This record gives sequence, structure tokens and C-alpha cells, in this order.
Amino acid sequence: SRVVKLAVIPGDGIGPEVVSEAEKVLDAATADSGIRFEKTAFSLGAGRYLETGDTLTDEDLDAIKAHDAILLGAVGGVPGDPRLKDANIERGLLLKLRFELDHYVNLRPSKLYPGAPGPLADPGVVDFVVVREGTEGPYVGNGGAIRRGTPHEVANETSVNTAFGVERVVRYAFDLAERRSRRLTLVHKTNVLVHAGGLWKRIADAVAKEHPDVAVDYLHVDAATIFLVTNPGRFDVIVTDNLFGDILTDLAGAVTGGIGLAASGNINPDGAFPSMFEPVHGSAPDIAGQQKADPTAAILSVSLLLDHLGLRDEAARVTRAVEDDIAGRDGALRTTSQIGDAIAGRLRA
Ligand code: NAD
Ligand code: IPM
Ligand code: MN
Repeated sequence: SRVVKLAVIPGDGIGPEVVSEAEKVLDAATADSGIRFEKTAFSLGAGRYLETGDTLTDEDLDAIKAHDAILLGAVGGVPGDPRLKDANIERGLLLKLRFELDHYVNLRPSKLYPGAPGPLADPGVVDFVVVREGTEGPYVGNGGAIRRGTPHEVANETSVNTAFGVERVVRYAFDLAERRSRRLTLVHKTNVLVHAGGLWKRIADAVAKEHPDVAVDYLHVDAATIFLVTNPGRFDVIVTDNLFGDILTDLAGAVTGGIGLAASGNINPDGAFPSMFEPVHGSAPDIAGQQKADPTAAILSVSLLLDHLGLRDEAARVTRAVEDDIAGRDGALRTTSQIGDAIAGRLRA
């Protein structure tokens, strides 16, 4: 039987709570499939840092690389915790994994399931995917400050965009659009960020010529936020830079049932490194440890993981169980594990 080596990083805050439920669902979905998930848990995050002072050691990274895929909950301590003032868990752990494992596609689907709560009165059919670039842009960490703490402090944060990096993610987005509804929206801010925006636009225009059947559209990021609220149904595939994609996908989550439903995959399409699946949300210190978190985003991330591993039927069954669970939600409060049990139960039925 096939063995899949899965690295599991529960992380901080609600991370471990939602990952337990995601694992339950993964087990239920693959129980009779002949596939065995061999899981290794990695203790990483603010908790580990506070205990040992380590964020992500070379040994951790090598061990993680030896897996077929990664499931991550969320990382990040309580904002303002003085013991974390010299740590940057987000950069030193999460972004380091995305960069080292060359997760150049950050796939963030948004689908409004029937029955899902949402702020829009008449949203219509909403089903789109944000292809967020994952290894470049303002996230590279190319910056610095001088005269720190003085009235003359200068702080720079440079957005790094390479033709290679932009082209590969744009190509991925066009290929995805070909398999979906053949509509692609490039989102940037070409009117102001002329260098980076110009590169993205020229590359998208060139790749578009190879995909005459894909309808291509361009929006400035500010206008994109308008349409995500007023007419989210217009989108199929959105391709955008790392920071714009981060912001748009919290908004996309909010309009399609809430951040508790938003899943993501950090994909290395070349397969040289394991891809990593995680909810879009963070460690939510405000509700951590209270069984209040919705584990659905983590569970839908398991569906993306299964799909990535080629386990299409299992992935579809997880999505279906989530869909049915959402359809049956009546506003009654359920704990994190009650939601996980209900979804896992549907898979065993
Ligand atoms: P957050 O996503 O953790 O929380 C924002 C709001 O959404 C909070 O009110 C929270 O209670 C709510 N929320 C989030 N997930 C939920 C869920 N599953 N069910 C119900 N409600 C949910 O964002 P934040 O407050 O900006 O960040 C908190 C910490 O998490 C920070 O340290 C941040 O850097 C980190 N973070 C980590 C990741 C990650 O690991 N991938 C992602 C985003 C933020
Ligand atoms: C996300 C998070 C991360 C990001 C942070 C925690 C580094 O917000 O996964 O969306 O900005 O990518
Ligand atoms: Mn984010």
C-alpha cells in the first residue's frame, strides 16, 4: 500500500485545536483507501521558541524536507508578548518554510457554500481561486532601516519581483484557468508601482497570447477590493503578488463564509519540495484554548492536500462532507471538536 509521509506542524494558539480535527478528518477520509499516512509532528512556533530559543533549525528543515507534504495549523504568539520581541516567528518559520521549499504558488480558493454565513445580501455564485505569488514581492525581506528610533529614521522594504518568478506563477494561473472557467484577473497596482506592476503586466500579456481562450482582465488592487464585495461572482482565477494576495484572501474569506472556512495550499508545483497546506487564518490568540475556533479551514486544507497528492476521490469526499456540514449549520454553537467529529462522521457513514 502507498505510504505518504506527512509532516504536521500544529503551531500556536488555535493551530493545535484545528489541526487535531483536520487529522481526524484525514484519517476518516483515508481509512479504507489503501493509503497510509505516516505522520511526524513537529513542535514549532512561538511555544517552541519560548522553550528553546529555536525558530526553525537546519535539522528541522532537513527533516521536514524528507516528507511528502506538510499540514500546518497556525503560528504566532500573542501580539505584544514581551518575551517574543526579538523573535519573528512569522518570518523565521512560516515564510522561511515557504521560501526554502519554493512554494511559489500560494493557492487560496474561495467558494461560497450554500448555507455559509456571509455579509453579502445577494452574493450569487461565488467560486474563485486566488493564485498568490509565494516567494517574492515585499515578503523577501530586502530592506533595512537607518537612524532607528530617531526622528530621522529611514525604513525601506523593497519588493523583489523577478521575471522568472513572475512568469512561473502567471503560467500556473493560466493553466488553472484553462481547467476552470477560463477567466483570469491580474491584480496589481500598475498605476503607482510602475516597475513591478509593469513587469507583471508585460508577462501576463505575453502568456495570455498562448491562451487565446482565456478571458483576461486587469484590476488595480484597490478596485479589486470593491468587486470582491460588490460582485465576487465575476472572478474565476485571480493572480497577484504576495502582499496583495495576502490582503485579498482575508477579504475573500470574509465574504465567503468567514475566515474559519478559508483554506490554502503553499505549492511547489515542480515537486522538488513538499507542499504545505494550512488555513488562511492565524493563531487567533483571542479565542485560543477555548474550543471556539472553526476547524473547517484546516479541514478544507486537508482536501487541498489530498488533491495535491493525486487522491482526487478522497479530496472530493472531504469537500462534500464539509459542504453537507455547512448546509446543516443552524447557527447553534458547536465546539471545535464537535465540528470535526461531525465532518469526520459523515465520511465514516
Ligand atoms: P487571525 O487570523 O489569527 O485572527 C483574526 C480574527 O479571526 C480573530 O478575531 C480570530 O479570533 C478570528 N479567527 C481566526 N481563525 C478563526 C477560526 N478558525 N474560527 C473562528 N475565528 C477565527 O489573525 P491575527 O489576529 O492578525 O493574527 C494572530 C497571530 O497569527 C499573529 O501572530 C499573526 O502573525 C499570526 N498569523 C499566522 C498565520 C499562519 O500561521 N499562517 C496566518 C495569519 C496570522
Ligand atoms: C498568511 C499570513 C502570513 C502571510 C503571515 C503570518 C506571515 O498572514 O498566511 O496569510 O502574510 O502570508
Ligand atoms: Mn494573511
